[in-house]
Amino acid sequence: MQLTAPLDMHLHLRDGEMLENIAKSSACTFSGAIIMPNLVPPVSTKEDVIAYKQRIMAAVGEENFTPYMTIFFKPSYDKAFLESIKDEITAIKLYPAGITTNSEGGVSGFDVEELRPALTAMSQLNIPLCVHGETNGFVMDREAEFVSIYERLATAFPKLKIIMEHITTKESVAVLDRFENLYATITLHHLLITLDDVAGGMLKPHLFCKPIAKRPEDRSALLKVALEAHPKVMFGSDSAPHPRHAKEACGCAAGVFTAPIALQVLAELFAKENASIENLQAFISGNAQSIYAVTPPNKTVILEKKPFTVPSDYNGVVPMFADEEIAYSIKKTRITNDCK
Ligand code: NCD
Ligand code: ZN
Repeated sequence: MQLTAPLDMHLHLRDGEMLENIAKSSACTFSGAIIMPNLVPPVSTKEDVIAYKQRIMAAVGEENFTPYMTIFFKPSYDKAFLESIKDEITAIKLYPAGITTNSEGGVSGFDVEELRPALTAMSQLNIPLCVHGETNGFVMDREAEFVSIYERLATAFPKLKIIMEHITTKESVAVLDRFENLYATITLHHLLITLDDVAGGMLKPHLFCKPIAKRPEDRSALLKVALEAHPKVMFGSDSAPHPRHAKEACGCAAGVFTAPIALQVLAELFAKENASIENLQAFISGNAQSIYAVTPPNKTVILEKKPFTVPSDYNGVVPMFADEEIAYSIKKTRITNDCK
């Protein structure tokens, strides 16, 4: 099976030693990725984003990989600032305050008038807005409650491209077709697991993430639009590495590390569900290229149906399916034969 220019439209690459340890897990199989800005402190100035991109390129080394950069949304961004930074970024990421890892400086209240200057300027400059769509309500209801905020934003800023990040519910799937300017990313893990897999038996900290995995009917709604490669959805792994000690702790950090196995497991899932390779290609790259108007580096990944035992960790970060066997392996990419 051959995939061309795979893209991961929601990725956490972190910084420092973690960046150096995990960057190649994505760069050896993906052509590019939207890089999340939730560092400490968040990426929010032109200098920050240029310097962070350089650190990513250094960590990626020889791999043919484009980091599509983002900054952390602040309502104070004005048109002059956005004009000055627009060539350095592909999107801006909005976090509700305190809702997930390193989001303390995010938005509270979602008052359209407060957001109007920044979002109007973004829509004039054609900068997409990526949104972590959760309220601070009851954990299972946070995303469904946020749908009314998506509706408000999509109506108030009809020319602004709004990407509903890592959707996990049937409510989010339903709203996609009601607004021309709403799009969504879907993770691998939310196509595979429900809350039962996280907490139905022994607690599985490595499957704990924000938004939390939901009900079987939610997963079915996500699977349907992913497998049919609905043109408004695209793959975004939300691969979010944390060191083992931060996950296997009494206060477990949120995030699932899927970067090294994402393509292989997506191939397995699409094959198992009898979805076509064309649809996988659209979900993994084509749709994102249209939605974001990007042209990624031309990387070809050849996968084969050959069991692969997932390592127990990658430099101290435990991946999804650690120590388990998955059905597909990376045979080679155009750049390297050695994607472990
Ligand atoms: C992400 C992280 O660790 O940065 N965690 C997660 O559970 N997905 C942040 C995020 O995308 O919410
Ligand atoms: Zn994320």
